[in-house]
Amino acid sequence: MRVLLIGGGGREHAIGLSVVKAGGEIFTISPNRNPGLDRIAKRTILGDENDRDFVLRGAMKVKPDLVLIGPESPLASGVSDILIKNKFDVFAPSSEAARLETSKSFCRNFMTENRLDGNIEAGSFTDSREAERFIRQIDHDFVIKPDGLTGGKGVMVQGVHFNSRDDGVKIVRNYLKSKRDRVLVERKVVGEEFSLQAFVKGKKIYFLPIVQDYKRAYEGDIGPNTGGMGSICFSEKGLPFIEEGTLLKAKSILRQLVSKFSEIYAEYVGPIYGGFISTHDGPKLLEINARLGDPEAINVLSLMENSEMEVAVSMLHSSNPNLEFRNRVNVLRYVVPRGYGSDPSPSEIRIDEEGIMLRGLKLYFASVSRSGNVLKQTRSRSLALLSEGTDLEKATKRFDNIDSLIIGDYSMRNDIGSQGTMRKKKNFMRMIRAGKV
Ligand code: GLY
Repeated sequence: MRVLLIGGGGREHAIGLSVVKAGGEIFTISPNRNPGLDRIAKRTILGDENDRDFVLRGAMKVKPDLVLIGPESPLASGVSDILIKNKFDVFAPSSEAARLETSKSFCRNFMTENRLDGNIEAGSFTDSREAERFIRQIDHDFVIKPDGLTGGKGVMVQGVHFNSRDDGVKIVRNYLKSKRDRVLVERKVVGEEFSLQAFVKGKKIYFLPIVQDYKRAYEGDIGPNTGGMGSICFSEKGLPFIEEGTLLKAKSILRQLVSKFSEIYAEYVGPIYGGFISTHDGPKLLEINARLGDPEAINVLSLMENSEMEVAVSMLHSSNPNLEFRNRVNVLRYVVPRGYGSDPSPSEIRIDEEGIMLRGLKLYFASVSRSGNVLKQTRSRSLALLSEGTDLEKATKRFDNIDSLIIGDYSMRNDIGSQGTMRKKKNFMRMIRAGKV
């Protein structure tokens, strides 16, 4: 089976490996030559993955049996639409369905209008005076979200990124004055976040094990938000600090949402990702992403016995895939350029790939170019290391002295999956449930 994969990051390397594992042939369209995908792809077409006509020409040449799209920006720019229109089998949402991600105010309004569970109070504004009036009259802390795509980096939280109401108003004004034409002001909710991903076709939804992404740039969960510094997954056991009832509720919220969306607007097809937070009042939906997460996809695809290709084909042809997951814990840590999250300074790093493999770590390439053992970084994430074990301790142990295998000027959060962070998360959720936070 010929699979055209759009995108060239760590998540796409994982999707590519998942396709190849099931005997599929991979063809990629991406702006960068991902060294991992390059190794397994029959052909890499370099160019703008958001340019509909360019991607259509590429697809016409490749003649794929299936198209998978990794990132959100090609969905927003109509790449899935043009491929669907030209009768390709695409396992990704249309731009209309992707509005659940590409416009946060659309998603909130949709939840409000349809009285969906898990919603958060919010106001959506294009006028800064109206936004200011709203902010002055609410009696709770709030979060400011630019309406469109931000790569996970534009959200400003009171008490974290700013303190006073006046500072919040200034941020809103600046967003509305610069390129952002709409902002959302949402009630701040407190708790532990988790990513619930699924494969969807209309009203059919198949859930993947939940993952937690460590979003903040620095150890101890401080510093700017990033696209994700790493992540943990306990397969179908779920995360130790998220109660089973909370997960069941989150699944019901996501199921309700896609089903209502397919009923009212258009059939939702492809991966979906609900960014949830477990609060004292049950799970709340922070955001929808119309794709798999990066890094979350890497954790989950590595544990999934099936290939994303098989699941996609089966769902596109209206049969029911039987998803199976290995019973393991996995921990992922991203190597990023120094300053990633604020002002990245890319440099060259060296990797001992054989040593990494002998250590039992899996390696996923992201935004780097390669010459021998030297990787040239960009301003984005460089490579992901994934470790698997029967428990968290075994999984994290493989990262000991990692700097002997990856040499150079880079950052990596060494606390991802550590016992210390687990204890903190469990205690935090205990306090939340007891109403002490
Ligand atoms: N890890 C967050 C995201 O993929 O949006």
